[in-house]
Amino acid sequence: MKVAVLGYGTIGSGVVEVLKNNAALITAQAGEDISVKYVLDLREFPGDPVEEILVHDVNTILDDPEIELVVETMGGTGAAYKFVKAALEAGKHAATSNKALVAKYGSELLDIARKHGTNFQFEASVGGGIPIIRAMYTSMLGNNILGINGILNGTTNFMLTKMDRENRDYDDVLKEAQALGYAERDPSADVEGFDTCRKIAILASIATGKFVDFEDVPTRGITDIAKEDMEAAKALGYSIKLLGTFKKDGEKVYASVTPALVDPSSALYPVSDVFNAVLVDGDMSSELMFYGSGAGKLPTASAVVADVIEITKNKDHTVFAGWGFEKQELSDASSEEKCFFVRTESDAFITEKMTEKAVRARYSDAAQIIPVA
Ligand code: HSE
Repeated sequence: MKVAVLGYGTIGSGVVEVLKNNAALITAQAGEDISVKYVLDLREFPGDPVEEILVHDVNTILDDPEIELVVETMGGTGAAYKFVKAALEAGKHAATSNKALVAKYGSELLDIARKHGTNFQFEASVGGGIPIIRAMYTSMLGNNILGINGILNGTTNFMLTKMDRENRDYDDVLKEAQALGYAERDPSADVEGFDTCRKIAILASIATGKFVDFEDVPTRGITDIAKEDMEAAKALGYSIKLLGTFKKDGEKVYASVTPALVDPSSALYPVSDVFNAVLVDGDMSSELMFYGSGAGKLPTASAVVADVIEITKNKDHTVFAGWGFEKQELSDASSEEKCFFVRTESDAFITEKMTEKAVRARYSDAAQIIPVA
């Protein structure tokens, strides 16, 4: 199997490294050698052995019949979309770590792959190194997925953990996350919940078998979580986590991204620092938990390489995965009844179950309102 890697950044170089370091094992598992014939990047890498296989024109890859699989690790939805679509249309397989691409164009790319009898796989797009996607469409087959609750963003989990354990404020922990390279200089994709939004939309699409549009998912990040909120939540026995949630209630389907109070009896409570965890509730399996490194070079690359091996083993047909074109309509999350944490100037308490609309009307002067998970 000859592969081309599109994008030699953190993940792309990790994929090259994993394929090289574990070559013998990977050959045995895949049933044939897997070698990287080209790496596409606009940049030069003087002194790096990648120089020998570096190309700058995607057509070198698309026009080479020896290339059966492209690995997309460029990010974004511009060139990444054009190149993956062109590769699939040329009858090649594709694997990607790019959640933005999968959330926006997954339905179309899966459809093109099916029409060509090829595969479009994206294990690394949610939860980095955590095997969550393949687990849902293989090991959990035979279940109706009733709910998903996930800590899907390492950067914000790191920040909230610091706020909780060290009683620090938001700006202070954001600076530390930036200094450590977890948060970008423009941290909005993480702290505004956009990254979690795309990831829960992908998981919800797999859970329903229909396209859950990330633009329909109400999304609230952590930018308004104050030190006082964390302190008051702790005094009530909770911590605050940023959760991506999906819930099926009869005909109603909900998805949202929101900070939420989590109590110590939840398996998500001890999930700290940059780690991710996803709880998936199957009607037969009950709740399962998937935990691990949600980002990072080698963990994420290992999930991409697992796709590469899976595709190599099944290169003559399309493996069941993903979802169809039909759109999944979402019910209004603010009409769902929940308990809420309310912090006023002088007090903090948990309400009885009510809708978000009702709690906001009743406590319109509150300094903070956050749902309880
Ligand atoms: N910025 C993401 C995170 C990277 O913090 O989890 C992985 O998608």
